[in-house]
Amino acid sequence: MMHDHSAKVAIITGSGAGIGKACALRFANAGINVAVADLSEPAIKSTCKIIEDNGGKAIGCRTDVSAEKDCQKVAETALRTWGRIDILVANAGVQIGGSLLETTEADWEKILGVNLKGVAYSCKAVLPTMIEKQSGSIVINSSINALFGTAGMAIYDMSKAGTLGLMRSLAVEHGKHGIRVNAVCPGNTITDFHINKMAGKGNTVEQLREMTKGYGLLGRAAEPEEIANVMYFLASDESSFITGQAIIADGGFSVT
Ligand SMILES: NC(=O)c1ccc[n+]([C@@H]2O[C@H](COP(=O)([O-])OP(=O)(O)OC[C@H]3O[C@@H](n4cnc5c(N)ncnc54)[C@H](O)[C@@H]3O)[C@@H](O)[C@H]2O)c1
Repeated sequence: MMHDHSAKVAIITGSGAGIGKACALRFANAGINVAVADLSEPAIKSTCKIIEDNGGKAIGCRTDVSAEKDCQKVAETALRTWGRIDILVANAGVQIGGSLLETTEADWEKILGVNLKGVAYSCKAVLPTMIEKQSGSIVINSSINALFGTAGMAIYDMSKAGTLGLMRSLAVEHGKHGIRVNAVCPGNTITDFHINKMAGKGNTVEQLREMTKGYGLLGRAAEPEEIANVMYFLASDESSFITGQAIIADGGFSVT
């Protein structure tokens, strides 16, 4: 296999849909080769096709981030294909609602497995090559819920706050290796997750947009591309002196 060492390489988890997909397309548009890591094969194919149809380079990796061996395999595949990993966007996450009293053991396992271990395993898989190269940028998709409590979101909020702890620890540990680690805390964003949930209740995307009117200071929810732009900024050299930070992108929701 020929290695293309000239282009940067990003692994983006959960890039079959929503914010992760928007990141994959944004990064590919900037000339970055993207490893599309997701649980869903059809979703992976869809993202890869859009990237390739637009002249970019992508490899699809069927991945369950809650399995460490899957995360290791994505890193191995990216290195085998392109010879380098410059960026990780640890985006894959699940949302499980309910108060703590309603939470089941299965809910705990899912949230801890995907939102916490999955992020940690994804970081662990790329760190050795980044340390060797003495450079790299990791961006974790946390949530505004990491910083502000929401009723009925106990274990989700807990998991997202946990990712900020990991982000800061890794930033402290690996700054000396030239590796930057940051997080984005998005507010309400109209992604496939919300669209599918609403479709299940018989609502259209337009109705969903209508329902989110009035959110934050801008009076609306975000589009996935708006969050992808923040992820791209943090992943790129444009933010070369930023590390250990959680950047809020919530349309001013948390100011009120
Ligand atoms: N949508 C929002 O309002 C919002 C706000 C703040 C933070 N977030 C965070 O953004 C991230 C993406 O959310 P989204 O709304 O785009 O979700 P989404 O459901 O639209 O897309 C998530 C993608 O992740 C994949 N995925 C799920 N579990 C996985 C696993 N175990 N391994 C690999 N891939 C997996 C899914 O197949 C899907 O393609 C999540 O971490 C979420 O917590 C979302």
